[in-house]
Amino acid sequence: MRAASIGDYREAARRRLPHFLFEYFDGGSYAERTLRANIEDLQDIALRQRVLTDVSAIDLSTTLFDQKLAMPVALGPIGLAGMAARRGEVQAARAAAARGVPFTLSTVSACSLAEVARGCPTPFWFQLYMVRDRGFLHALLEEAHEIACPVLVFTVDMPLPGARYRDVRSGLSGAAGLRGQARRIGQAMTRPRWAWDVGIRGRPHQLGNVAPLLGPRSGLEDFLGWMKDNFDASVTWADLDFVRAHWKGPIVIKGILDPDDAHRAADAGADGIIVSNHGGRQLDGVPSVARALPAIADAVAGRLTLLADGGVRSGLDVVRMLALGAQGVLLGRAWAFALAADGERGVQHVLDLIDAEMRVAMALTGATTVDRIGAGSLAA
Ligand code: FNR
Repeated sequence: MRAASIGDYREAARRRLPHFLFEYFDGGSYAERTLRANIEDLQDIALRQRVLTDVSAIDLSTTLFDQKLAMPVALGPIGLAGMAARRGEVQAARAAAARGVPFTLSTVSACSLAEVARGCPTPFWFQLYMVRDRGFLHALLEEAHEIACPVLVFTVDMPLPGARYRDVRSGLSGAAGLRGQARRIGQAMTRPRWAWDVGIRGRPHQLGNVAPLLGPRSGLEDFLGWMKDNFDASVTWADLDFVRAHWKGPIVIKGILDPDDAHRAADAGADGIIVSNHGGRQLDGVPSVARALPAIADAVAGRLTLLADGGVRSGLDVVRMLALGAQGVLLGRAWAFALAADGERGVQHVLDLIDAEMRVAMALTGATTVDRIGAGSLAA
C-alpha cells in the first residue's frame, strides 16, 4: 500500500491490526487530552513564510552525538512494535538504516538486541527502562555495548505505567487468563492477514530482552503484570551514576517536560534530553511537547543536545519542532502505524514523506540547512 500521508497509515493500521493491538499503539492515558494536545498544539504552530531566497539546494543532513544523519529524525522506542509486523523491530531498524536515520530499540521490544543486530547491519540506539534487578540491567547494557549501540536513551517518565483505559476495554490488560486470551484470539481472527503473517509465522511472541526475567511463560498479559511489578519506582537522579558506570557512550534522558528537570539533567552530565510526555500515555493533563519545549530550549541552550517527540505526523511537524528549539525529533506512532500497514517498506515511505515535507517547509521558510531553522522561522 502507498499512503499519501502519514495519517493514512493510521487508518491502514486500524484495518490491519487486531483491535487490542491497534488500541495499544493508538491510545493514551485517561481522557487522552495530552495525546490530542501534542498533535493539535504542534499543528497550531505557525511558520513564517519567506520568499525569493535561493532554495534550490536544501540540505536536511545533521550530526547528533557524532553521528551523521540524513535528516534530524530518529525512530523512537516503541515497546512491542514487533507485534505490528513479523519480527517488526528488525524491519523498522532496516528501514531506518536504509534512510540514514537511527532506530531506537525499546527495552520491551519483541525482538532482542541480538536479533535486531543480526537482521540490521547498521548500529541502532538502545532505550533503557530501569528495572529493579540491577544485575540484569548491567548485563543488558553490556550486550548493547557489545553490539555497538552508539547511544543510550534512558527513559525516566515511567516509574509506573499510566492508566490506559483503552487497553482495559480492548481486552489487552482488562481480562486476565483464558478469558482475555480468548478475546484477543477472537479479535485476531477478524484480521486473517495479521493472524497468519504475525500471529503464526511471526512467533515467538515474547519480549526478547526481558524473556530471561519473565521465564518460559512470557505472553502479553504476563508482560503487563511484570512491568507493574518490576519497574523501579524508587529511581532518582543518583541512579544516573549507575547508568553512567555501565555505559560509556552518550546518554540521553527521555521524558523531560520541565526546565528545572532539564537543568538537573545537564548538571548530572547527560549528553542529551528528549522533551517528551511519552506520547500522552503517562500523566494526562501535562502540557503538550509543543508548549513545553520553548522554555526548556531557553533553559538549557548549548548545555546538551535537545531532542523532542510527541505528535509528529509530518515533515512540517519536524520543522515546527526544530523551530521551537529541538535539534532532532523522534517519531513514535508515525512509524509504528506504517510498520503495521506495510512493514519495512511502509517505514521507509514514512521517512520519504518526512524528507519531502521538510523540504517544502524549509523552502518556504527560507532555510536551506537544518541549523537555519529556529525561532526566526516562527510567525510573529
Ligand atoms: C511508546 N513510547 C515508549 N517510550 C519508551 O521510552 N519506551 C517504550 O518502550 C515506549 N513504548 C511505547 C509504545 C507505544 C505503543 C507508544 C505509542 C509509545 C513513547 C514513544 O517513544 C514516544 O515518546 C511517543 O510515541 C511520541 O508520541 P507520538 O509521536 O507517538 O504521538
